[in-house]
Amino acid sequence: MLSFVAQPQHIVEASKFEKPARPACLPRLPKVLILSPIVPGSRLGDTEIVGVPDCHARVEMLDIQDLTVTYSETDGTRLPALENVSLQIGAGEIIGVLGESGCGKSTLANAVLGLLPKAASVANGRIYFHEHDLLRMSEAELSGIRGSKIALVPQDPALALNPVLTVGTQIGEVLSAHIRQGREERKDKILHLLRELGFDDPEQVADAYPHQLSGGQRQRISLAQAIACEPKLLIADEPTSKLDPFLRSEIAQLLLRLHENHRVAMMLISHDVALIASLAHRIVMMYSGHVVETAPRAAMLAGPLHPYGQELLELASTASAMARFHASPCPGVPVETKVKGCCFEPRCRERKAICASTVPPYVQLEPERTVGCFKYVE
Ligand SMILES: Nc1ncnc2c1ncn2[C@@H]1O[C@H](COP(=O)(O)OP(=O)(O)O)[C@@H](O)[C@H]1O
Ligand code: SF4
Ligand SMILES: [Mg+2]
Repeated sequence: MLSFVAQPQHIVEASKFEKPARPACLPRLPKVLILSPIVPGSRLGDTEIVGVPDCHARVEMLDIQDLTVTYSETDGTRLPALENVSLQIGAGEIIGVLGESGCGKSTLANAVLGLLPKAASVANGRIYFHEHDLLRMSEAELSGIRGSKIALVPQDPALALNPVLTVGTQIGEVLSAHIRQGREERKDKILHLLRELGFDDPEQVADAYPHQLSGGQRQRISLAQAIACEPKLLIADEPTSKLDPFLRSEIAQLLLRLHENHRVAMMLISHDVALIASLAHRIVMMYSGHVVETAPRAAMLAGPLHPYGQELLELASTASAMARFHASPCPGVPVETKVKGCCFEPRCRERKAICASTVPPYVQLEPERTVGCFKYVE
């Protein structure tokens, strides 16, 4: 069986990459930071290993049921970007949504946040946040939840931040939209948040404009905005993809710190196998708009059951250090159009006759572990 556990070649060492000049206000971090599925909290020589312990006793907070989202194409047809996607997130749990580009990860995030573009339409499904169905809320109700109860860490903070406002003002805007507090109290909170996000000189940073900060610093401002109102759920859509490997490790460590300090649940979306392997309690693997497998992190990394996951982790474990940062596409022809049966059938080495004509059912093989593949159907 494929194995993806503590092997030195799986380790991502930030120190192997050219390190950018360290801005004065970056937080103090270990000399070498490892992102790996090795037991979190342990050490390898003088190297700290980041990661979270497994999360038991899940109390469900977000419950996505059978979500189907389609986009209208220029020729008038509608193509599904998500098909019958179901997943649950417990309070304080970190779910890693892993899959290659185009599999529907951002569509999923935007559906939860009520930020789908005009071309998109929800054809089916429910998204319960506690007892509220987010898909049936008015825009006013949703904007009350967005930012306060559910917050987004954007993929590109350069686009998310307003270039003509100081970062202090922009964090203050998030606070004033959801929390009643006086000027001084708000200012104290902004400085506290900046300190928590590793800035040694919060007053100076609060007065800075986004262009005066580095990419990593801007992403930390986005994290400060996201956590400002103590949300219950943080949705981080490719939070490190615009950063170099060194800064990526720092943001990963900050996400862990926020999780520890605030017990906030996270939907961590990425095509970065090492990032998901380091941070997530459970991993939801997606392919072409479908959830193909869901499993606790340790079980998934010890060996995925779905043929797509097996190829994905096989590639990730044998690729060069740089290539390991991204979920490399599997060999074969990418699926451009939707297929009738299993979404992975055109690329699957283990396909059977039934796979081309019938969608495989989800099979629960262990508690918390489901897979959509005919290999596991009796
Ligand atoms: N605005 C849009 N109009 C039409 N198709 C879209 C739009 N946004 C995304 N898609 C399509 O939906 C699918 C999923 O996209 P996306 O959710 O962005 O995937 P990911 O975040 O995993 O890269 C892709 O096939 C993409 O081309
Ligand atoms: S259902 Fe069939 S085609 Fe799909 S992943 Fe399983 S074996 Fe491969
Ligand atoms: Mg995306």
